[in-house]
Amino acid sequence: MRISMIGCGYVGLVTGACLAEAGHQVVCTDNDPARIAALQAGQMPIYEPHLDAILAANCRENRLSFTGDAGEAVRAGDVIFICVGTPPLETGEADLSAIDNVARMIATEARSPKLVVEKSTVPARTGRQLKRALEVYRRNGGGEFRVASNPEFLREGTAVEDFLHPDRIVLGVEEEATEQQLREIYGPILEGRFRCPVHSPACPSTKAPQMVVTTINSAELIKHASNSFLALKISYANVVADLCERVGADIEEVIRAVGLDPRIGPQFLRAGLGFGGFCFPKDIQAFIRLAERAGVDFGLLKEAERVNKGRVDLFLEKVRRALWVVKDKKVGLLGLAFKPNTDDIRFAPSLEVIRRLLAEGAQVRACDPKAMERTCTIFPQIQYSHDSYEVARDADALLILTEWDEFRHLNWERIYRLMARPLVIDGRNLLEPEMMKEFGFEYDSFGRPSDSLTPALVPALTH
Ligand code: UDX
Repeated sequence: MRISMIGCGYVGLVTGACLAEAGHQVVCTDNDPARIAALQAGQMPIYEPHLDAILAANCRENRLSFTGDAGEAVRAGDVIFICVGTPPLETGEADLSAIDNVARMIATEARSPKLVVEKSTVPARTGRQLKRALEVYRRNGGGEFRVASNPEFLREGTAVEDFLHPDRIVLGVEEEATEQQLREIYGPILEGRFRCPVHSPACPSTKAPQMVVTTINSAELIKHASNSFLALKISYANVVADLCERVGADIEEVIRAVGLDPRIGPQFLRAGLGFGGFCFPKDIQAFIRLAERAGVDFGLLKEAERVNKGRVDLFLEKVRRALWVVKDKKVGLLGLAFKPNTDDIRFAPSLEVIRRLLAEGAQVRACDPKAMERTCTIFPQIQYSHDSYEVARDADALLILTEWDEFRHLNWERIYRLMARPLVIDGRNLLEPEMMKEFGFEYDSFGRPSDSLTPALVPALTH
């Protein structure tokens, strides 16, 4: 199948590379000439595990190419995936201007019938607007346009695996022909006919992905509903964690038992600093606004958002309670990315933590395996080191903000000796409190018993 990708962010690149790997002919374009030039030169504009390998292989085998000429890309594909960003507007609604611009571009450049597929995350009823835009902008007798929705559920850090081994593929279509065309595109993924860069020598035998075929409106809503529910689960776990601290229970044990119920499931119940990234915060907002415009008050999600925004406050209260005075204290940060295995810091809780520590006069040093360069563009005034031990040296406190595996495997005995005060506050419950106690650390985290640092409210409740 001849496929075009409009937008070379992580969704466009992962989708393009994986569909090329599935045997399709894929041309990608982006309105950022520097990004296209970098991709044509084989340079990766983002860090995403396995993406560089699958991109390189498919470019080498001429199934994947990049062009700065959007018209050429449109004409090269029978199916055009729109993968542009839909960032939040001030109002919280999704900014759909990039979608509108792409519709205009496709309508003016196309010379033959096209299937236009929404891959970007958009609010329900966008497909209808997209179809109308393609009609009103159509020029040159470009043939008819069909529109479909095909939301992605890719997680940063595991996006290639998520695309090649999806739980479900959702198709929002209006015509039989459109369904058939998309089934043909995803056939190799469904049947496992691809070289998987993630699993070698062979992929684990997993349940075949479900193909969900529905209307465009429902498909668009499925994406927002899925992300918002995952965010809700996280905020729920975080409130339970706060309660655990007050009644002397352990969130990890509570959540493990709760998650054993298959009706609930263990995933996305990890308490900590809350959710960040480019998806959850904006998708919740857009979903709340969509509901509002439809006359539905999504108070549930507003509360999940409020709880999430409060995680950094609670975390900094722990820091202040432990340090007493924050001014002039040397504070080391382990982790900046919004989650491990990505260089992405968009809406990362770490940014708010840094901003607030600097405002209180702390001296901040930070370490992150992938996200220091991006963070340095926002906070050039703090120190960065690739060496966690350098960040711990003479520190008055060490704060864990992202649960990178490599931090779990640090030599904590050595860190104990390096720090001016062996105080660790773990915003991601990465470490074992018992282990840290044995090493002699003052240690605090979310929702788990800690001797020294938890406020003295508990006694009243234990009678
Ligand atoms: C998310 C969705 O998972 C994905 O399906 C969708 O396509 C895009 O948005 P992503 O933003 O990459 O993916 O990250 P995800 O792994 O979902 O984590 C989101 C945030 O929630 C991160 O900040 C993470 O640290 C936090 N999180 C996740 C928790 O705090 N607790 C958890 O149990 C899980």
